[in-house]
Amino acid sequence: MGSTAAEQAAIWQRLAAMPTPSLQALFAADPGRVEAMTLRLAIAGDEVAPTTMLIDWSKTHLHADTLAAFEDLAEACDFAAARAALFDGGIVNVTEDRAATHSAMRGSGTPAQVEEAEALLARMGMLVEAIHEGALGEVKHLIHIGIGGSALGPALAIDALTRDLALVDVHVVSNIDGLALEQAFAACDPATTLIAIASKTFTTIETMTNAASALKWLSDHGVADPGGRVIALTAAPEKAVEWGVDETRVLPFPASVGGRYSLWSSIGFPVALAVGMEEFTAMLAGAKAVDDHFRTAEGRANGPLMAAFADQYYARLRGCQTRAVFAYDERLKLLPDYLQQLEMESNGKGVLADGSAVSGPTAPVTWGGVGTDAQHAVFQLLHQGTHLIPVDFIASIAPGNALDPAHHRNLLMNCLAQGAALMAGKAAEDPARSYPGDRPSTTFLVDDLDAAMFGALIAFHEHRTFANAVLMGINPFDQFGVELGKAMAKAIDSGEEAFDPSTTALMIAAGLR
Ligand code: F6P
Repeated sequence: MGSTAAEQAAIWQRLAAMPTPSLQALFAADPGRVEAMTLRLAIAGDEVAPTTMLIDWSKTHLHADTLAAFEDLAEACDFAAARAALFDGGIVNVTEDRAATHSAMRGSGTPAQVEEAEALLARMGMLVEAIHEGALGEVKHLIHIGIGGSALGPALAIDALTRDLALVDVHVVSNIDGLALEQAFAACDPATTLIAIASKTFTTIETMTNAASALKWLSDHGVADPGGRVIALTAAPEKAVEWGVDETRVLPFPASVGGRYSLWSSIGFPVALAVGMEEFTAMLAGAKAVDDHFRTAEGRANGPLMAAFADQYYARLRGCQTRAVFAYDERLKLLPDYLQQLEMESNGKGVLADGSAVSGPTAPVTWGGVGTDAQHAVFQLLHQGTHLIPVDFIASIAPGNALDPAHHRNLLMNCLAQGAALMAGKAAEDPARSYPGDRPSTTFLVDDLDAAMFGALIAFHEHRTFANAVLMGINPFDQFGVELGKAMAKAIDSGEEAFDPSTTALMIAAGLR
């Protein structure tokens, strides 16, 4: 059962008092370390030939004693109850008095939630298939307009899953900077373009401004019924109808699905349109495989929880202010952007779910890039800089390209070499040429980055974020931190509020006053 803050604090003290052997010392002390610190998750396929996600934490500083303490911490934080509440439709988003039912969209939730999700996805599937069959005339392009959680997931999924074939050419536009929309216009033929307006609230200023401009672009280019080319993806269907979208083309999703967790809902419509419903369903199934694991595995055997142990260890005990993610896979080059919102908007908080102040650092800054490009740009700092940065490497054993296998072999060799080099380091007489080593990394090695594995990777990170939140006592499902800036922008627009001298001077210089 759960315990008091004092008990949790005592566990943190226990953790802080533990010695911190080097990675090399940990390997030397335990010949079974790789096996003990590696998890293999079966994601798809069958028992005879499963496709797996392998996660190797052996190059992190976690060891038997720290893991035992983190398992105690999870118990003291009532992790099992929090997890049950997540899947059982409990009010886990306490500040907004809501459940968080994104997992139900892929079949993990209460029967009522799953039934509702299935009905909503069936509706989306019907529209997707109707469009593929020509119900809306010839459709070659989709301009998907949304921002934050209504754009980052679709953009990542489309980039990852349509390298071979896109059934429809999708352009995701988020920024209110008109350049973004103009770029999409330049790549699309108005006569064969649909517009998706993706907004949970259907009030976001960037999205509504871009949507209006997209409609104007259609009508300026002779499209007779621009409104008839619009599909709305939203948890506020009444607002979409009020805005002018025909009810038959409004694809709702439940308000209990958070924006940054909404890829699985109708926000995933552009993905389904680009890859087809079969692939979209495979993506959901891969995510469900991780749900099933997260729901049932305990302690260090639970992948997302284990990842959160490592995250907490580095953020709270080793003072790491950032964590880096490098996918050695061109298809995942947008993953850091996606994870930034998922992790930083969820856990970048200063108060606990009960409103009291947090007692330590919360979400580290998530950043990263794609390998091998990043090696030639930022890895200098990882190897020799003064920051300690835990790194995640992600790679697929099967290549995503049909070129000479030397490409992929080289890519994988580089990925593995970086983890080895960060850990081993190298002494040299010349200090400028020596590497301190003992720098941690975790490696995710998937059999193949297909739709199911992609869904699994994303669900893994959703649950990792949740597990981190539980260990810190944070509500990961609200985001009030974004509101003040929005209100200030409105105040600048109305001209009714007084601002500080610097901002006032800048407003005058920018021609806003
Ligand atoms: O401002 C932040 C935010 O509310 C995100 O949480 C959300 O994903 C994004 O804006 C877009 O919101 P909406 O989908 O309601 O347009």
